[in-house]
Amino acid sequence: MLEQLQPQPADALLALIKLHDADARADKIDLGVGVYRTNSGATPVFAAIKAAEQRLVDSQDSKAYLGPEGDMGFVEALMPWIFGADPTMGGRIQGMQTPGGTGAVRLAAALAARAGARRVHLGLPSWPNHKQILDDLGLETAGLAHAAADGTADIDAVLGAIAGAGPQDAVLVHGCCHNPTGIEYTPEQWDRIAEALAGSPALPILDLAYHGLGRGMEEDAYGMRAILAAVPQALIAYSCDKNFGLYRDRVGALYFMASERGQLDTIASNANALARAAWSMPPDHGAAAVRLVLRDPALTETWQSELTDMRARMRRVRERLAAADNTVPGLGLAAIGEGTGLFAMLPLDKGQIEALRTDHGIYMAGSGRINVAGLTEANTPRFVAALAVVTGADG
Ligand code: LMR
Repeated sequence: MLEQLQPQPADALLALIKLHDADARADKIDLGVGVYRTNSGATPVFAAIKAAEQRLVDSQDSKAYLGPEGDMGFVEALMPWIFGADPTMGGRIQGMQTPGGTGAVRLAAALAARAGARRVHLGLPSWPNHKQILDDLGLETAGLAHAAADGTADIDAVLGAIAGAGPQDAVLVHGCCHNPTGIEYTPEQWDRIAEALAGSPALPILDLAYHGLGRGMEEDAYGMRAILAAVPQALIAYSCDKNFGLYRDRVGALYFMASERGQLDTIASNANALARAAWSMPPDHGAAAVRLVLRDPALTETWQSELTDMRARMRRVRERLAAADNTVPGLGLAAIGEGTGLFAMLPLDKGQIEALRTDHGIYMAGSGRINVAGLTEANTPRFVAALAVVTGADG
């Protein structure tokens, strides 16, 4: 029966990794998949994680199974960072470990479907894998046009989509550092979104994959916390792949907030059953390392200072791009200065993106998304010059 299968294109974002690797040009620039890079282009293991890994190697005395919920010490250690001073919202939040943020989003969508969701509203644009996951689960999707043409937030479109959502709908919202646009809502805009969700029968699903890469751990949690304070129920998909630099170790968590604490065990039992059928239990290593970091004040401080350095560097890259707005007018580079996280969108057409790749060795997603962390002090002038060439701004 396997000959019935039709060939599928490789995932476009992940295919870029291989295309870039195969390019022999020494001055190639990788602005593709979302990994943080230093000013010299490296993606090092965090010092806090290295130290925790060493302790793990020295102290771990068993690799016996844990269970579908994974390392609950990890899940609980993260909660004050995510949810704040009352990390269970009065006993209404519980969580479990998942294989990366993707596993968390997948489990959230499967759980929502099991609870009766039929349609999910998601950003236009959104992280491309969101739609792939929802399609694979047989959920309908509806576009939520949250980004205006000038690269700023279209909050009325967001509020309008929420107002149109029904009781069998879920609304998938990025908690911070929007992927792919980098657009950051103001606290006032978040408050309005929270109020709209409070008046809607739809289930909010919050995706927090870049916590701490925007303005700070507290600042980046503002929108999610505003929503959780306003609505009765929500699912929160969380990733440590970026903020602990654990990408390939696949470290994530799914949290559920119930209307009443008495519902939590039932929700968790369904999530556990879905996890057991999908991956049985999540990989342990990275989550155990995060747990060790968060339980040790000195390692926590090291981790926080590494994250602060990452944010500061990405801010400098954004400022450099914004300063080039006059050199390449019409691409909205000034708005990139206002954005947060790893990503920004450039309104380039397919031909221009292709020319950047073939003529200049610059790799970015086909949507025009760039990973700003791929830009260094050394390569930014070349990137801006290449943009000027492909857009004709160089005259
Ligand atoms: C990205 O969007 O580049 C990252 O979230 C990595 C991924 O899995 O797509």
